[in-house]
Amino acid sequence: MEYSFRSEPLGSFACDLAAEGVYQGAVAVGKGYLPDPVRSAVESELKRRGFEGKEGDCCLLALLGQTSIRQLLITGMGERGKMTGEKFRTLSAKILKAANGARAKDIYVHSSLLKNVRDPALSVQLLVEGMELASYHFHAYRKHTAAEEIKKHSVARVMLPSADFATRKRMERGLERGKSFSGATALARDLVNTPSMFMHPREMAQQALKLAGRGTGITCKVMNREQMEKMGMHASLAVGAGSQHEPLFVQLTYRPKVKTTKKIAVVGKAITFDSGGLSLKPGDHMNDMKIDMAGAAAVLGLFKALPDLKPRAEVHGLFIAAENMPSGTAYRPGDIVAAMDGTTIEIENTDAEGRVTLADALAYAALKIKPQAIIDLATLTGAVIIALGSDVAGILSTNKDLKQALAHAAQDAGEPIWELPLFRPYTELIKSKIADVRNVGGRAGGVITAALFLEKFVHGVPWAHIDIAGPSYTERETRPDLPYGASGYGVRLLMKFLQKM
Ligand code: BES
Ligand code: MN
Ligand code: ZN
Repeated sequence: MEYSFRSEPLGSFACDLAAEGVYQGAVAVGKGYLPDPVRSAVESELKRRGFEGKEGDCCLLALLGQTSIRQLLITGMGERGKMTGEKFRTLSAKILKAANGARAKDIYVHSSLLKNVRDPALSVQLLVEGMELASYHFHAYRKHTAAEEIKKHSVARVMLPSADFATRKRMERGLERGKSFSGATALARDLVNTPSMFMHPREMAQQALKLAGRGTGITCKVMNREQMEKMGMHASLAVGAGSQHEPLFVQLTYRPKVKTTKKIAVVGKAITFDSGGLSLKPGDHMNDMKIDMAGAAAVLGLFKALPDLKPRAEVHGLFIAAENMPSGTAYRPGDIVAAMDGTTIEIENTDAEGRVTLADALAYAALKIKPQAIIDLATLTGAVIIALGSDVAGILSTNKDLKQALAHAAQDAGEPIWELPLFRPYTELIKSKIADVRNVGGRAGGVITAALFLEKFVHGVPWAHIDIAGPSYTERETRPDLPYGASGYGVRLLMKFLQKM
């Protein structure tokens, strides 16, 4: 969508739809832009419909040629002073969807909506984020005509009221930020939505290489099987051994222009398809397993945005891309494999593969990069969906400050997260009689035992693990900013986290 600022008063130019926001109670609309008779007709119609300006209330009215505004969308903003950034992003998404439903091409966002959030830069950012996230479509594999048809009936231009020079500059900054946040999320969504037959380990590495280059501050290193072997990443190689696709280790590095001593590593799970391996998943559990690289997709989304975000920290993005398949060369239940730090892992179930690849990636981060903090994102367990449902990610961490900063970032990003305990006594459950650790700890407390397994590989570096198996994907479309399919969960959380550092 295209965004522009209009300094002429609303009503003096043509637009398909104008959206105005109203606080609860005081239902007065159209001030200064609707002719008086139209205004009073609109207000009495709102009254007749029982519109009170409650949060989430929406009322679409056709103005039928009485002004240059074709349709009016009145949206409830709830109680004055109670609007939050997240609510405003959701409201923006809702407005965009309503405008699409009303077949509007050019829409105007009234200043009543933008004034909700005190900082003009943030308010425009949230507006753009909401609208862009809501208008996301995954068209790559549809007939050209189907995609064209959707485009034909969707909003193409969003107009915003202009302001004094200083405010306008800040709004423009917000516009850029909004595009950057939503664009990075869209990249992650695209990668996750792409079928595994195309999004294989080599393609994941290609996607990373594409983000590096002159002027970006980003470099990218890819290691193949042979090089991973030399590094001692036997655990990951075992996970990928059943596949036709060679496992690959990918390291992205962002170095800021300003001097800094801060160093953060972000690790993503990158199983491009999880069949379960020889511990094969039942068919219906396998259906969505192209999403098992959503953690790495979030890392790639983040790196796309880093040149704009310019955080004052060195950021390392790591993932080990592999496909978990059953075959004559696959790793087996009962095998014992060593991770790059020498820790041996007894494989009890080849479907608990994510933690086995993360073992190498986390150990690499801790021992080679030595950052001040490691954050991993992984579609790690079905158990987290049982514990928290499909909309909330679980966070388990060894460090209180890190955990709090991530929880705040998640709230700002509108990406729900909830803490689960890193309950140490459960370490018993992942003890092996013949190796250093076992890759499963039974059904009970599955999120916790998975995290305790990972903790063995971070070697004391402050660390937070985010299990995104629930919110990485949606089939229900319960939120206007979340269309069917991949959500891109984690991208904006990580961006907010780094922005605040
Ligand atoms: N990728 C799955 C977890 C998953 C399940 C993600 C559903 C998204 C939706 C993971 O590799 C897995 O298979 N975990 C097993 C672990 C078990 C074997 C200990 C699980 O959760 O069943
Ligand atoms: Mn699995
Ligand atoms: Zn998996």
